[in-house]
Amino acid sequence: MKKQTNVAIFASGGGSNFQSIIDRKDSGDLSINIALMIGNNSKSYCFKRAENHGIPTLHLPPSRYDSSEEYVFVLSQALKEKEIDLIVLAGYMKKLPSEIVSQYRNKIMNIHPGLLPAFGGQGMYGKRVHQAVLDYGAKISGITVHFVDEEYDHGPVILQKTVDVLDEDTADTLAERVLKLEHQYYWQAVKAFAEGSLQVNGRTVTGVVV
Ligand code: GRF
Repeated sequence: MKKQTNVAIFASGGGSNFQSIIDRKDSGDLSINIALMIGNNSKSYCFKRAENHGIPTLHLPPSRYDSSEEYVFVLSQALKEKEIDLIVLAGYMKKLPSEIVSQYRNKIMNIHPGLLPAFGGQGMYGKRVHQAVLDYGAKISGITVHFVDEEYDHGPVILQKTVDVLDEDTADTLAERVLKLEHQYYWQAVKAFAEGSLQVNGRTVTGVVV
């Protein structure tokens, strides 16, 4: 029997995407082992969610370490110890060190609340994305699930889904609809990875059917 995919979730905030992955696992839709949750802010609610579901946690703020080498070493050891196959960033606000990105090439996923390559990049997160979409007058927005490379919001796109931008939208109402879409689709990219059906050829990712 094929071994289960060991997943590490990285989160910094409320962790609603983390929760949607836990829920899909619990419902039997998603067959993975959530082996670890790593967060940089011990007060964030994602820690509580992990605790509620018996998921091991690691509080790992990069600022705790004197050198980036030390931080990379500790992080890398933690991932090796749990035999992590896939890293899922779920609202993680820190940039992953390039050493980790290259160790886990095409094995780290992120979700962005907009349609990349528009409205992405350093400093584009949360409400800022939705406000930028509205300020630009875009008529559609959506989500992008992508592999992580060394640049912000840049790696190969795994899936994108759209929502219409409505005349009456505010950043809050748009954020709410986009977040629903995130919960609906992020786990499906994780599932495709776990089932071994994702193929990456340069920037082109195939094998996720949603
Ligand atoms: C989501 O909008 C996601 O797209 C972005 O960060 C937010 C995290 O929300 N990367 P939550 O912590 O999962 O509720």
